[in-house]
Amino acid sequence: MENHSFYNTPEIVAGYALETHLQAPEEAIVSELIAKLAQFDVLDIGIGGGRTTLHLAGRCKTYTGVDINPNMISACNQRFKNWPHNIAFSIADARTLENLEDNSFDLVLFSFNGIDYVNHQDRIRALASIYRVLRPGGYFVFSSHNTNCIPSLISLRTHLSRNPINTARGLVQWLKLNFIHNNRSTIKQANKSARVMLNDGAFNFSLQTYYVSVQEQLRQLDGMFSIDNIYSLTSGRPFTTLEHAEASTDSWLYYVCTKT
Ligand SMILES: C[S@@+](CC[C@H](N)C(=O)[O-])C[C@H]1O[C@@H](n2cnc3c(N)ncnc32)[C@H](O)[C@@H]1O
Repeated sequence: MENHSFYNTPEIVAGYALETHLQAPEEAIVSELIAKLAQFDVLDIGIGGGRTTLHLAGRCKTYTGVDINPNMISACNQRFKNWPHNIAFSIADARTLENLEDNSFDLVLFSFNGIDYVNHQDRIRALASIYRVLRPGGYFVFSSHNTNCIPSLISLRTHLSRNPINTARGLVQWLKLNFIHNNRSTIKQANKSARVMLNDGAFNFSLQTYYVSVQEQLRQLDGMFSIDNIYSLTSGRPFTTLEHAEASTDSWLYYVCTKT
């Protein structure tokens, strides 16, 4: 099953449609942009069940939520059917953003690592499509998994505990991560590469997830976007220096950038 089809399964859609809270960096970023939002046409890509819609749709000029999965769009139409705000939901693939016009949004959001569920080539296509639909000077906000957390994720030590039952469970998880759901070359690559597609155990090993280093992520954005801030998942605050962001072992990081 392709990554995006997994997100169309009824149980997953139902789970996402119950989500309400912003993650700490998202809260900080919304606060940062709040004064400008009323003037913004916002595009929210990979909206899932509309978690971020709750916090944005009532605050911006127009709000468009898109997702590749029809069941996610149906769930949003149902969840927000009585909302008085200027909102629209439709099916669109981030890789092409078909039916969305060039230079038509002031803010594009791709939250909760949605961009990590396409392969490298498609990720680059998605970045180019996002660039296309943003107005010059518009913001692109997204999060992505961080390669620095992989050594701990796959190490044996992380899976051991003083409690023998937890250790037994941990060993099974470690075996699945290192030998069953990823091949050895992926694991070797994961420990030293700037980017890798890894089955990290999410949703009981149902997904291939893209992990990227800060340096590689900035390289991918270069020429299209300038970086404003990188936010820590754990503190919710922007890193004060690029070196601090590059050294972070947070599972994922939030990037705020501007179309150049
Ligand atoms: C991890 S969920 C995040 C959902 C939502 N943004 C949130 O924060 O709760 C990822 C979402 O991205 C969507 N998605 C995956 N690949 C996509 C693509 N190529 N284009 C558009 N949406 C995509 C999935 O259907 C899913 O709803």
